[in-house]
Amino acid sequence: MDKEVAVIGVGQTKYGSFPNKGIKDLFIESYLDALANADKGIDPKDIQEAYIGSLQTGGNQLGNMAALMVEQANIPYIPATRVENACASGSFAFRAAVMAIKSGMRDVVIAGGVEKMTDLPRERNRFWLGVSGDVEWERLAGTNFPSIYAMVAMRHMHEHGTTKEQLGMISVKNHANASKNPKAQLRFAVTLEQYMSAGYFAYPFGLFDLCPVTDGASVVILCRGDLAKNYTDKPVWVAGAGSGTDYLAIHDRKDMTRLMAAEVAAQQAYEQAGMKPEDIDFAEVHDCFTIAELISYESLGFAKPGEGGKLIAEGHTQIGGRIPVNVSGGLKAKGHPIGTTGIGQIYEVVNQLRGEAKEPERQVKGAEVALAHNVGGSGGTACVHILKI
Ligand SMILES: CC(C)(COP(=O)(O)OP(=O)(O)OC[C@H]1O[C@@H](n2cnc3c(N)ncnc32)[C@H](O)[C@@H]1OP(=O)(O)O)[C@@H](O)C(=O)NCCC(=O)NCCS
Repeated sequence: MDKEVAVIGVGQTKYGSFPNKGIKDLFIESYLDALANADKGIDPKDIQEAYIGSLQTGGNQLGNMAALMVEQANIPYIPATRVENACASGSFAFRAAVMAIKSGMRDVVIAGGVEKMTDLPRERNRFWLGVSGDVEWERLAGTNFPSIYAMVAMRHMHEHGTTKEQLGMISVKNHANASKNPKAQLRFAVTLEQYMSAGYFAYPFGLFDLCPVTDGASVVILCRGDLAKNYTDKPVWVAGAGSGTDYLAIHDRKDMTRLMAAEVAAQQAYEQAGMKPEDIDFAEVHDCFTIAELISYESLGFAKPGEGGKLIAEGHTQIGGRIPVNVSGGLKAKGHPIGTTGIGQIYEVVNQLRGEAKEPERQVKGAEVALAHNVGGSGGTACVHILKI
């Protein structure tokens, strides 16, 4: 039996604030987009199982969410499972789909993500944005993720000489990329001067270090390798799937400036793919805060430990650079609908690898191998996937 796994269709809603759409509307929209994306067509009856990532911010549909989504998508009765691993829920849903096919149990599976965040008042959102740390410790200390990542940033600056300007360059790059992406939430450019003069949220972070609060959904369809030609002339192959966990509370970690879950996940993915960091043509990484992107350069081996700041300052992660990162605008500016984000990254990577980014100025030219890096909470969970055309 063929153990290769192909992505054959990808779909996504716009990311943003949609007061008139609920999770059902968002999920159906992205599911239909994914069905339409497989150029030879997919009979929905071929779909045998679904994994759907969501934190269910606000607690709106905490029970049986995945069953509700497949019912709404008119593919009832199939097994459907909600996957919850904080901000990495989407990529863990993708991983579950890959494993279902690799095990030989399933031929065609969907992996999706859906999150509705903007209908909560700010203080309720603040609560939900802290539920994925070690709550007994970190809540007691009055922290949530902006303040935890701010401490990580301070430590990185202290140990490695990373500067606020370098964090700013990440924000400026990702806003510029999002301004060209019609599906992004914050489609405006930001200058380094605007970044530096924004008021502080959690020192050293100002507004432009933080991702926004977002509604959105994404769906991808995967199948057994030898069946891919029935659905599309442009399959994208899953070359490596790695994942890991870490101590949730940052005070329990050996080194606050590293995300071990992501390092472990990256090692596994490179090993499975038989590849090295130099083989990656571009990456979508988890930049919930600017420091998170900078550390991802180090976790993924694009920069030596402590030298993430140098990589951005030298321009290597810009479109046209040695390793473009977050050409979608990233979480920072494309948006971060928690449980959807990992699937949204696969959506971007697949479109780019097929040469179908639609906006020519955002297309990474001639790319054959890409990496998606998705982190849960402040690093408690992570997945790294390597895809190739
Ligand atoms: C930063 C934050 C508090 C802003 O919330 P807010 O003040 O309620 O923002 P609003 O939605 O009212 O938007 C106000 C303006 O700021 C802009 N804006 C909102 N968030 C922004 C962000 N992160 N970066 C840049 N601009 C942002 C909006 O576009 C809007 O602009 P406009 O007035 O020109 O339309 C909120 O985005 C936040 O909590 N982000 C962090 C999310 C998070 O921690 N996620 C989990 C990561 S692990």
